[in-house]
Amino acid sequence: MKTIQKAAVLGAGNMGSGIAQKIATEGIPVVLVDLTQELADKGRERIRTLLAEGVERRLFNAGKADEILARVTAVGGFGEGLADVDLVIEAVFEDKDVKKDVFGKVSAAVRADTILATNTSSFRVSDLASAVKGPERFLGLHYFYHPAKNRLVEVVPGDQTDPAAFTAAWRAQEVIGKTPIRSADAPGFIVNRYFVPWLNEAVRILEEGAATIPTVEAAAKAAFSIGMGPFELMNVTGVPIALHAATTLGEELGPFYAPAPLLAKQVESGELWSLDGDAAPASPGGSEASDADAAKAVADRLLAVVFLVAAQMVDDGVCSREDADIGARVGLRWSKGPFELANDLGVGSALEAAKALATRWELPVPKGLAEQAGKSEPFPIRLVDLTVDDGVATVRINRPDALNAINPAVVDQLAARFDEAAGRDDVQGIVLAGAGKAFVAGADIKFFVDRIDAGAIEDIQAFTKKGADLFARIDDCEKTVVAKLDGLSLGGGSELALCADIIVATERASLGFPETGIGIYPGLGGTQRTTRRVKGGLSRWMVLTGDTVGAKMAYDIGLVDEVVSQAEVDERCHALAKGATLAPRAVRATSNEVRSLETFFRECRVDELLDTGMTMDATFAKKIEKVRRKAPVALALAEDCIARGEKDGEKAGLARELELLPTIFATKDAREGLGALLEGRRPKFTGER
Ligand code: COA
Repeated sequence: MKTIQKAAVLGAGNMGSGIAQKIATEGIPVVLVDLTQELADKGRERIRTLLAEGVERRLFNAGKADEILARVTAVGGFGEGLADVDLVIEAVFEDKDVKKDVFGKVSAAVRADTILATNTSSFRVSDLASAVKGPERFLGLHYFYHPAKNRLVEVVPGDQTDPAAFTAAWRAQEVIGKTPIRSADAPGFIVNRYFVPWLNEAVRILEEGAATIPTVEAAAKAAFSIGMGPFELMNVTGVPIALHAATTLGEELGPFYAPAPLLAKQVESGELWSLDGDAAPASPGGSEASDADAAKAVADRLLAVVFLVAAQMVDDGVCSREDADIGARVGLRWSKGPFELANDLGVGSALEAAKALATRWELPVPKGLAEQAGKSEPFPIRLVDLTVDDGVATVRINRPDALNAINPAVVDQLAARFDEAAGRDDVQGIVLAGAGKAFVAGADIKFFVDRIDAGAIEDIQAFTKKGADLFARIDDCEKTVVAKLDGLSLGGGSELALCADIIVATERASLGFPETGIGIYPGLGGTQRTTRRVKGGLSRWMVLTGDTVGAKMAYDIGLVDEVVSQAEVDERCHALAKGATLAPRAVRATSNEVRSLETFFRECRVDELLDTGMTMDATFAKKIEKVRRKAPVALALAEDCIARGEKDGEKAGLARELELLPTIFATKDAREGLGALLEGRRPKFTGER
């Protein structure tokens, strides 16, 4: 598969420069092109300003900002500076003729295998393809504002797009830390298709006098758990942009999608929406409604729009339910997507709401929604996929916006998909994988905190037990299981990988056990299975310090079996799952650093490390400091599990991990550590039992 070594962005406005900034931030050189050198330079300056803001907010230091900017080359003239780029992303003015003109010039100036993409939001990819020489390498990459910060990207194949170009463009998005979702080449693609009517409905509510702006804002914020309501959002992103988007959708999809007359009027006035006033029912017309009723009516109408449009979109084959939900969570920062919201409300009620709206606009009632309501069951939300190709099953956790963190639903689905793969006659081997930039970032911290606060530690225990049983089945599976570690793995993620027969890592992979730093200990085999691959001292080092091990070191110490490039990883995992032999291990002398780490951590005990009165080896001062910042009870119990395994064998050690779970989760330090992580602050541990 083609990898992207160098990219170009056409159009150095806010969108284009933001896309270029993100690409450069992830280490890929990028050419930023505009009509003239002056315009291109202006775009590069925009990046400089945003990077300076990042330095001020301490997201990265000035050196890193300089490095990022140095990867951006500003070039004047479309067609210039493109001879050696692998991917071109067009983000010029939203005008079909302008875009076509640019693609005409650019497709003649790039290599025949360069992938070309448009960031259009209002045209079909296939409408622009005629301007591209080699339309099979052309597709849509639709980014969201601000593209250096918002992770979402819709990847849109046109009629003629070659699947290999699609895959390469998709992988490139993952490499630059984006969360890609797949959309058909349809009006508004995925997110704008329901988001724009959502904005428009807010304007209609106002136009009808059903509620005031503050009421709509408050109701929308509460119903969708968002920081800004529709009017404030329009003010921030541009009221004319909302009008333009609604106009385009209306032309393609009919009057329901067309802009409310008040929206056009507001744009004409050149004013922003006035957000002033209290949230209350509209005064003259809405007389008797209570505040709560008015807010509920607004929320119901906004939800109805989302249910109707999203369900229709899935019926039309535009996207999967999962991608519609990911789009809302990642692109719009809603806490839940359309189908998750429907499940919360009850699919029957969601259907009723959608029906009322559909009747008003003479639209069909989406079949999928009606069918699901008929079953009286929530929409199944797929968090784990299973695909089988040429004898190899890939079981992939697809929760990229939470870095594939494992919660009860993930465990259930992972178990179901894995067991299915293991039982199928046409499956020879199984690859475990994660969607997006991570393999798995561990167990779901939010679930832990929620259950502790509910006084239901038994739920955590049941969840961990289920996970442990599944991990044991993966471990014992007769088919070859390969973990594809193309990204970070932490805690439960590293523990999952350790159950595989073979671990293949890419350069961006890592393993680590941060648990003792968040008040708990690795409870799914981390204190046990690690020692199958590395010496006991190194396993203790990882568990006690929480140090992350990158791909290279992981290979050197035997934690992973092969390190391959991202371009090769899928093919390699496939071959290994089918029985290919592992590449002979490169014989490298164990570094002094590793050797001394091993000896030090093999010999020292937790109570010694925590005893500030004892003189410790100066070479390890930093490591000891690190251990001292961890939760003392977590360290002690992790050590207990390790000792049990060493004394009575791995099975006994695994059982001990489960046995001590109620003790650790009942400590104040566990709640403190987990809570601190969620709040993004340093924990303060007391060591109380
Ligand atoms: N449980 C639940 N959610 C998790 C998670 C976990 N273990 N790990 C990451 N996420 C979520 C984050 O909360 C964030 O969600 P948001 O966008 O709604 O805020 C999202 O995944 C992306 O993570 P983010 O922190 O923005 O990515 P990053 O690249 O800056 O940082 C990590 C990555 C892994 C360093 C950081 O997310 C982290 O420390 N996660 C916890 C890891 C851990 O302790 N695992 C062991 C659990 S036993």
